[in-house]
Amino acid sequence: MLKDLQQSIVDLKRQRDVCILAHSYMPEEICEVADFCGDSYALSVKAKTAPQSTVVMCGVRFMAETVKMLSPDKKVLLANGDAGCPMAEQMDKELILQVKEKYPDYTVVAYINTTAELKTVCDVCVTSSSAVKICSQIDNKNILFIPDINLGTYVSKQLPEKNFKLLSGGCPTHAKINAGEAQKVKAAHPEALFLVHPECKPEVTALADYVGSTTGIMDYAEKSPAKEFIIGTENAIVQHLQFKCPDKKFYPLSKDLVCHNMKVTTLADVYNAVAGNGGEEITMDEQTRLAAVKCINKMIEYGG
Ligand code: 13P
Ligand code: SF4
Repeated sequence: MLKDLQQSIVDLKRQRDVCILAHSYMPEEICEVADFCGDSYALSVKAKTAPQSTVVMCGVRFMAETVKMLSPDKKVLLANGDAGCPMAEQMDKELILQVKEKYPDYTVVAYINTTAELKTVCDVCVTSSSAVKICSQIDNKNILFIPDINLGTYVSKQLPEKNFKLLSGGCPTHAKINAGEAQKVKAAHPEALFLVHPECKPEVTALADYVGSTTGIMDYAEKSPAKEFIIGTENAIVQHLQFKCPDKKFYPLSKDLVCHNMKVTTLADVYNAVAGNGGEEITMDEQTRLAAVKCINKMIEYGG
């Protein structure tokens, strides 16, 4: 039954010239039918080069907006229109304009987890995998990093030569884990390496053997000679890794590391979107797109 639905999606996407992009927080059955499954940086790069006329994004809204910015002539569908990212909604354009007035000599670096509207007043975007590299190349010592205070703190620690101003936004899913919980899980699995996403609190990343994006964590675990790992990011990554490396053991940092926004998208949503009977079409006025895409293009320029 599951395999039949997957086969129908694969047949339909070929007939209808559809590319399916899936964030790595999607479940295994969605990644299996996708043309590409990866972290938010890799999705942006793929979105730029996908040859199909329609893209179905299985992820959250800002990811679908990024595809639309980079491919305005394509039809872009968010597989489930209820999939937002609470962090992306935390700060609006007016707030950032006020902060910019206060710090006029700062370069505004926006985590890609922001709305298209907010990106129109930022200078460059970053993702969790590209943030350190990009911030190190910015030709200004002063960086205003929005909205994730945890990722911003992590990046600022790697680049002590820069002067960072941070605002207090962040991911409600990653930020709820504290050092006490992390220490308990480490004590329960003393042989395991601890791999953590930089959206976690600094007290948690301080305990990590590796800090990186969703793809970074997966690559590290696959290549490592170690046999056990505690995964400090959304629990879909635990599932993917267990499929990829059946001879290794993966433990979730917490059963609460579940992003309910990523979880709303089902295989049935993907089928309906590919069939042309579902999903939400992303639209954007050209003025917003042109202003917002500048910082995405800059990210790809620096990041590549
Ligand atoms: P990645 O950049 O690692 O894909 O992370 C995106 C995200 O939303 C993590 O919560
Ligand atoms: Fe947004 Fe956090 Fe979910 Fe990532 S895990 S999509 S940052 S709410």
